[in-house]
Amino acid sequence: MILSRRLHPPARRGRFNIIWKGSVPMLENDIQEILFSEEQLKARVAEIARQIEADYAGKEIMLISVLRGSFIFMADLCRAIHLPCTLDFMSVSSYGKSTTSSGQVQITKDLSEDITGRHVIVVEDILDSGNTLSYLLKILENRHPASIRLCTLLDKPERRVKPVEVHYTGFTIPDAFVVGYGLDYAERYRNLPYIGVLKPAVYGG
Ligand code: IMP
Ligand code: MG
Repeated sequence: MILSRRLHPPARRGRFNIIWKGSVPMLENDIQEILFSEEQLKARVAEIARQIEADYAGKEIMLISVLRGSFIFMADLCRAIHLPCTLDFMSVSSYGKSTTSSGQVQITKDLSEDITGRHVIVVEDILDSGNTLSYLLKILENRHPASIRLCTLLDKPERRVKPVEVHYTGFTIPDAFVVGYGLDYAERYRNLPYIGVLKPAVYGG
């Protein structure tokens, strides 16, 4: 796996350097390297689903998606799990327009459901510094679920600042800023069906 040497792009300032193809901007042209293809993602999501089914056999689970990055992973994962399951969504802000988390986390959309006594699995796109999730998990634990586990599609352990216990990880990746399959750079690229590394030219690197 060859990764860009420029690991994290700087915070977005002003306009994007979108790479145009003819008169249409093509997201694909901004990607330097595909890390995980649609097929690889699908296969790994199915494996995680089997693991969750085995661990929670006979129980009803509640999947909590941390918006917005995990929305595609959540959609695929919940359809791959054949257990009774409810879904809820919450949103936290920790980055603003920057690409590194500040440690200052705010709940911007809380859950609709009560999690007391439920078997909760928090579904995240990526675990980076751990700032967001260590804060979020503490808040959720205080609401007394029957159990709580974390499922993250990607994990960048090299960048961890706060320890976070993870039960299900899709892929462990090196320190690179990735986009696609729900993950964004300044709100773009979420709709790419695969996960890739941005070309440095996009963020002026
Ligand atoms: P943490 O608080 O540093 O662990 O930040 C976690 C959040 O930062 C994730 O849920 C993502 O929204 C975002 N994030 C971290 N790394 C990346 C990346 O490589 N690409 C896109 N978003 C990222
Ligand atoms: Mg996220």
